[in-house]
Amino acid sequence: PSIEEMQNTFDFQSVAKQVLKSTAYSYFSSGSGDNMTMRENHNAYHRIWFRPQIMVDVSKVDMSTEMLGAKVSLPLYISATSFCKMAHPEGEKALARATGNQGIIQMIPTLASCSLGEITGARIHSKQPQWLQLYVSTDRKMTQRIIQQAEKNGIQGLFITVDRAIVGPRGRSRNDKDMFNDEGGIQKVLSNERGTTSNILPLFVDPSLNWNDIAWFKSITKIPIILKGVQRWEDAVLAWRHGCAGIVLSNHGGRQLDFAPSPIEILPEVMDALKREGCNLKKDFEVYIDGGIRRGSDIFKALALGAKGVGIGRPALYALSCYGEKGVEHLLNLLRNEFEMTMRLMGTKSIKDIEPDMVDIRNLKDH
Ligand code: FNR
Repeated sequence: PSIEEMQNTFDFQSVAKQVLKSTAYSYFSSGSGDNMTMRENHNAYHRIWFRPQIMVDVSKVDMSTEMLGAKVSLPLYISATSFCKMAHPEGEKALARATGNQGIIQMIPTLASCSLGEITGARIHSKQPQWLQLYVSTDRKMTQRIIQQAEKNGIQGLFITVDRAIVGPRGRSRNDKDMFNDEGGIQKVLSNERGTTSNILPLFVDPSLNWNDIAWFKSITKIPIILKGVQRWEDAVLAWRHGCAGIVLSNHGGRQLDFAPSPIEILPEVMDALKREGCNLKKDFEVYIDGGIRRGSDIFKALALGAKGVGIGRPALYALSCYGEKGVEHLLNLLRNEFEMTMRLMGTKSIKDIEPDMVDIRNLKDH
């Protein structure tokens, strides 16, 4: 089908299923275990209803905001997904250009299929903000080298993934072998500066990672540190106490611990706990959320409950698989239009007008 026929994020997934090799599609689309968490990530948004305001002048709507000090046109970023060349030969470079053109941020994965230099080199202008997702290695010298490289390349946020002490028990794992060996498989697409894949995945998992390590990260870099994969309010408070600049409530798109709660479900208690502890959410600490964001209304709900911004994973991969860079831009335009429409119908002119009392969460925990 032509790109114009793609009218929402779900349309891209159906096409991706047709155009991708089955190994790539199953790598992108699967979750862990029985996919309970993956399914719930999106379904939880269906239990939040709106309390729209009427009679507000919404002839002009401003969707722009700031994330870690960078101006963005929309409170949405593309989250890190490894090996993007499995989706499209331009891989992460296409995502760099699409996000640049749209004025939003790309979080670059540690396990990218292009080198960091290639991806930062694909910026549409020198000031385009980009973040790096970090898988910490048992080899901390290597981790330090990656961070130094990030600094050199002007990365503005370091998102340390903390929900992967081991690789999750994915349903897809029975396909892993094919995936590594296939034509379009990881072996062929991983940037060769990081070695071969068979030895690479274990290098980027460190089961010993713990709270005491934060001080070390802070001592070696000035880039703000955000923990990606926080899954309960107690850890949100700990991240703040350890001097992180923020957190991403995330369960890795349901690819790690099955039965981890959907991030939107814990967002209200996370915000309450941070406020209770005295965290200044206007200044010192930013809360992001990803997992199951598929609609502009999902973005609105997350913001109403306190998120500074939201990340998408699979939708961008599907759009990239189907139509390359243009597909990703089309996807972002669809989400932008949906979000703008939601803002108008909710009676909100700007991001700061979006408040908790605009959503009804009485049924959120009901499932
Ligand atoms: C991911 N995700 C991920 N996260 C991370 O920290 N490092 C990584 O290398 C990857 N790789 C990755 C590959 C694929 C194929 C997927 C689908 C996801 C998780 C990602 O950053 C994000 O948390 C989720 O994808 C968000 O959920 P949705 O939008 O996919 O529902």
